[in-house]
Amino acid sequence: MLSHLAKLIEPFHVMELVKQADLLEQQGRSIIHLSIGEPDFGVPEPVLQAHQRALRDGKTRYTPALGLPALREAVAHHYLHTFHVKVPAEQVVITAGGSAALLYACLALINPEQGVLLTDPGYPCNKTFVMAAQGIPQFVPLEEHKNFQPAWSDLAQHWQSNTAGAVLATPSNPTGTQIDPKAMQGILAGLAARRGFLIVDEIYQSLCYGTPARSVLQLSGAPSTGQALVVINSFSKYFGMTGLRLGWMVVPPDLVAPVERLAQNLSICPSAPAQWAALACFEPDTLSLCELRRQEFERRRDFMLKALPKAGIAVNSSPDGAFYLYTQSPYNSDQYCKDLLEGAGVCAIPGKDFSRMHGANMMRWSYANALDRLEEAMHRLQQFNTRA
Ligand SMILES: Cc1ncc(COP(=O)(O)O)c(C=O)c1O
Repeated sequence: MLSHLAKLIEPFHVMELVKQADLLEQQGRSIIHLSIGEPDFGVPEPVLQAHQRALRDGKTRYTPALGLPALREAVAHHYLHTFHVKVPAEQVVITAGGSAALLYACLALINPEQGVLLTDPGYPCNKTFVMAAQGIPQFVPLEEHKNFQPAWSDLAQHWQSNTAGAVLATPSNPTGTQIDPKAMQGILAGLAARRGFLIVDEIYQSLCYGTPARSVLQLSGAPSTGQALVVINSFSKYFGMTGLRLGWMVVPPDLVAPVERLAQNLSICPSAPAQWAALACFEPDTLSLCELRRQEFERRRDFMLKALPKAGIAVNSSPDGAFYLYTQSPYNSDQYCKDLLEGAGVCAIPGKDFSRMHGANMMRWSYANALDRLEEAMHRLQQFNTRA
C-alpha cells in the first residue's frame, strides 16, 4: 500500500534519544540538552509584537503565493544593505521556512533519475527533498581536516553521468563550518562548466564568528535567467522564529513562475501573520538584538572549543558558524550518547542522522543553551569521560 517514497523516508534517529531524555527528566533527573537545533532565545520582542498586531488586525487571510510584496522588498533591501548585492525583489520568494524553499528548489530543478550531490555529513532532510523530486542522492564524503566542506575537486570526483547538480550548506548543520569564498568560486565555475545546478542553503548565514556574514550572491550576483543557482534562507535561526515557519529563496528570473505554481499548489502561501511579523526583523531594534544574540553564541562557541578538549573530546575542525560542533565520539556514537545521557544527564546526539558513511564514529554538540548550562554540561562530561 505504501509508496516507494514513504518507505524510503528515514525517521530522525535522534528522536529516540530525546524521548529517553524526556523520560529521565520526568523521573526527576537533571538533563542538559546539547541536542537542540534551534536558538534558545525565542522570537525577538519587536517581531512578537508585530505578530500579535497582525493577528489582532485580522491579517490572517491568504497572501500571494510568492509572499507579501513588502517582505520580498525588505529581503531584497537586506541583500543590498548587508552584502552590497542587488537582488530584484521579484526574484525573492517567501516560503514556509527554509524547508519549503529546499523542497520547491528540488522540485523545480530535478528530473526523475537525475543524481544530486549532497554532502556527507549534511542536513538529513536534503536527501528526502531530492527523493521527493524522484532524484537520486549521491553523497560526497567530507573530511574533518578539510573542515567538513567540499572543494570543486571533491564534487567533480563524485560527479556521475546522471548528476544534475548539488545542494550545499554554509555554515552547515551538523558541522558549523563554512565554505571558504575561494572554494565557492571554484564550485560555481565547475558547476557552470558542467551546466549543473547549485542550491546553496544559507540559513545559518548571519550566525558566524570571526568572519563577516557571507552570501554566494556576493560572488555570483543575483542569479540571471538560465543560471541554475538558488539560494535558501530562513527566519528560523538568526531571527529565532523557528515555530513561525518562515524562510525565503532567491531564484533566477525564469524560475519565479514555476516556483510560484509549486507554491500555489503545495501550500497556497506561507503564514500571513508570520510574514507581517517578519517585516519587523529588518528594523534597527531587532537587528541590534539579534547581533547581541550572535555575540552570545560566539562566546558559547569559544567556551565549547576550549572545554570539549579539556573534557576529553578533540575538536579537529574549525567551526565558525551556526551553533554546532561535530566531533569524533570516544566509541560508537549511538552507544556513547546513550551512556552519556544515562550516566551524566548530558544529551548530545549521534552522527547517524547526518552521515551514512561515518555517523557511527561522530557526534554533534549544539551550543544553543545558556552558558551556565554549557559549563555544567562540560563539568559533567569531564567527570563522565574520566570515570573509572
Ligand atoms: C541546514 C538546514 N537547512 C534547513 C533547515 C530547515 O529550517 P527551517 O525550515 O526552520 O527554516 C534546517 C533546520 O534545522 C537546517 O539545519
